[in-house]
Amino acid sequence: MLFEPIKIADLEIQNRFVRSATHEWLAEDDGAPTPMIGDIYEELASNEVGLIITGYSYVNPSGKSSEFQQGIYDDRFIEPYRQITFRVHKYKSKIVLQIVHGGRQSRISTEDPVVFAPSAVTDSSSGITPVEMSESHILETIEDFANAARRAKEAGFDGVQLHCAHGFLLSNFISPYTNRRTDRWGGTVENRTRIIVEIIQRIREMVGADLPILVKLNSTDGFDAISGKVGLTPEDAVEIAKILENNTVCAIEVSGGIMESGEVMSQPAIDSMEKEAYFKQYARMIKSAVNIPVILVGGIRTRSVMESLLKEGYADMVSMSRPFINEPELVMKLKQGKIEGVSCVSCNRCFDPNGIKCYH
Ligand SMILES: Cc1cc2nc3c(=O)[nH]c(=O)nc-3n(C[C@H](O)[C@H](O)[C@H](O)COP(=O)(O)O)c2cc1C
Repeated sequence: MLFEPIKIADLEIQNRFVRSATHEWLAEDDGAPTPMIGDIYEELASNEVGLIITGYSYVNPSGKSSEFQQGIYDDRFIEPYRQITFRVHKYKSKIVLQIVHGGRQSRISTEDPVVFAPSAVTDSSSGITPVEMSESHILETIEDFANAARRAKEAGFDGVQLHCAHGFLLSNFISPYTNRRTDRWGGTVENRTRIIVEIIQRIREMVGADLPILVKLNSTDGFDAISGKVGLTPEDAVEIAKILENNTVCAIEVSGGIMESGEVMSQPAIDSMEKEAYFKQYARMIKSAVNIPVILVGGIRTRSVMESLLKEGYADMVSMSRPFINEPELVMKLKQGKIEGVSCVSCNRCFDPNGIKCYH
C-alpha cells in the first residue's frame, strides 16, 4: 500500500509518503525563499516523495516566529517560489505551501514588539503575555491568509496547508486553553473553528474552488495531568475535522503539542516500535469521522509500522520530518528494499538555526 497512489481532491499523489512541513532556517531576513530551499525540495522530489509540504511560511510579518523563516506576505515572493515549484514539478512529486501566523508564539522584534493571540494567556515557556486580538485584527488576518493562498497558487504550488497545530495562531484559536473569548470567535468548538472556516471561505472567493486546501491539525495541546492545564481534546479535534471537511478541506494531517507543553510535537528517542506514531490513536478517531485522506505525522520510523498504519485504518498517508533531514532518499531506499526503517534517532539536534542538518 505504501507505494500505491492516492488522490487528495484532484491531485494525484504517486505514493503514500509525505515530507511534513519542516522549517529550514534558510530564507532571507525578510522571508524571501532562497534557492537553497529549492535544493532540498528538488532532492526530495527526485527521490519520489509523494507530497512535499514546505516549511511554515508567515502570512504577515507580525506573525513571524523564527529567524530565517520563509514568508508569503508580499507579491514579490511569488517569483522565487515559482522557481522552487518549477524545480519540484520536473518530477512527479506535488508540493504544498504551509501558511501560518505565529500568534502567541510569534517572536518579538523592534518592528513588531507586540505578540497577538485570541486571548491574553501568558505562555509559561516564553514568559510572554500576548495582547487579545480585536475583531478588525481577526478580519485583517483572515485576509492575510487568503492573500497568501492566492500567492501560493500564482507561484505554482499544488495547494496550501493551513497550519492549525503546534501553538501558532490558528492552533491558539481552536484550543480552549489559549482561546478564552466569549464573542463569536471563542467558546464552542464551532466558534473556536470559525476563523479557519472564514479563511477557507475567503480563499475560495479569491482563488476559486479548485485550489486544494489541507490542514495540519493539533489533536492535543499535549499537557500532562500534573500541569493542571486543560487544552484541546482529541474529541474536539474530531469535531473540528468534521467542520473542516464540510468546508472543502481535502486532507488533514494529524499532529499535536504546543511550545508550552514541551517536546510533544517532535518527541525524542523514538527507539522502539511501541514509541512510533505517537498520535496514531487520535488519527484513527479522526479517520473514522471523515471521508477525506488522513495523514499521520510524529515518530514514524519503520516500514512495518508504516504499513500497519495504513492497513489497520489509522491513516491514509505517512508523514515524516526529521527522517528526511539526514536521508532525503529514504522513499527510494524503502521502495528498492534497501532499508526496513529510517536511520533518524530522533535526537532533535536538527533544530539548527544555522540551517537544518543532521548531526548523527
Ligand atoms: C527542524 C524542524 C522544523 C519543523 N518545522 C515545522 C514547520 O515549519 N511546520 C510544521 O507544521 N511542523 C514543523 N515541524 C514538525 C514536523 O513537521 C513534525 O510534525 C514533527 O517533527 C514530528 O514528525 P517526525 O517525528 O517525523 O519528525 C518541524 C520539525 C523539525 C524537526
